[in-house]
Amino acid sequence: MAKNFTDPNILVRAEIATLPTPGFGVKYDEFQRDNPDLEIIRLGSNENLYGPSPLVLKAIEDSIGEINFYPDNTCTEISEKMGHVLGVDPSRLVFDCGAESIMLTLMNLCLRPGDKVVSLIPSFPPIYTWTAAVGAEVIGVEHEDDLLFSADKFCDAAAGGVRMVYLCMPNNPTGSYFTGPELSAIVEASSSDTLFVLDEAYVEFSRDKSNYPNAIQILEAAGQPYISLRTMSKAYALAGMRIGYGICYHEEFAGLLKRANTVFNVGVLTLRAAVAALSDPQHVKKTLSAVSDEKSRVEKEMLSMGIRLFNSAGNFNCVWVSEFSQALDIQNKMQQVGIFIKGQKGRPTKQGDFEGVLRITVGTPAYNDKMLKELETLI
Ligand SMILES: Cc1ncc(COP(=O)(O)O)c(C=O)c1O
Repeated sequence: MAKNFTDPNILVRAEIATLPTPGFGVKYDEFQRDNPDLEIIRLGSNENLYGPSPLVLKAIEDSIGEINFYPDNTCTEISEKMGHVLGVDPSRLVFDCGAESIMLTLMNLCLRPGDKVVSLIPSFPPIYTWTAAVGAEVIGVEHEDDLLFSADKFCDAAAGGVRMVYLCMPNNPTGSYFTGPELSAIVEASSSDTLFVLDEAYVEFSRDKSNYPNAIQILEAAGQPYISLRTMSKAYALAGMRIGYGICYHEEFAGLLKRANTVFNVGVLTLRAAVAALSDPQHVKKTLSAVSDEKSRVEKEMLSMGIRLFNSAGNFNCVWVSEFSQALDIQNKMQQVGIFIKGQKGRPTKQGDFEGVLRITVGTPAYNDKMLKELETLI
């Protein structure tokens, strides 16, 4: 006799049902099908619109014949190459299908129910979701009225002996960062067994800011346990290939993270592409320079429209909007003409609502011009 179907909610931990339904994931294919005459301009996911090195494309072509085999699950070649680029022993590196995958592993392996994680508001949404999924709690530090985050408030939040400090630097969506002295003060205020997760997905773009700190150096000097999350999605333009890595404070910590992971993760073509990308530093340099020039130009234009901007060190600008609903409205109107940007909740307001932010990726000059022209009519 057939059994009655079981309530799915009893098959997963109780925390899972309380998580928000994912709101991300733009269906570009569907949009293009419905709007065949519109050119889609993707400025909503902080992708790299300048594209990967030609060496990457060649490496993918050359390794097509390998896809019926499992990849090298030790990631030896990419670890050695990346270790060389970073000046880090390869044994301290972990690789996975994007920094996001490592982030999820960290949340699952390091957090216990009831643990506290200090982070920023607003920041990268999976921080809140995955913390909640394991029954831990985020203590969020909101930005101030001047659109800067207070290091003092962050120190106070971190001082209570929390399990993890998840510091996104440059922060997504605001692009903000703490300076060296501020970060040192935060480390000083924290317990010696608090894990610092430095999410440095955009760190390569931060070179324009003269006071942007070498965060790893500060944590090393203090002897604080940390992992710096990095990605090849942004500066190396490999978002679709899915590869990210973590720089661990100690090889033993890297070893522990690898123990509970899947046997195979980063794919064959991705590994070849990543190694090729590292072989073309000139290409990355050229991209960073082009993004930097365009970012300054876009910022100037936005400021001349009277827009308030966060001090972003990423490959994106972040516009402050007094109401979340207005941010969504602008996002939706831009989308109607094929321009995708990202409207997100900002900090909570005293009225129980939320401010908004618009995160807008720096694209190619032509795309940026189109975006600016539309934005001016909507803001
Ligand atoms: C702050 C931050 N961390 C991590 C990621 C994820 O990077 P990946 O593409 O390597 O998963 C992103 C992606 O946008 C991000 O903005």
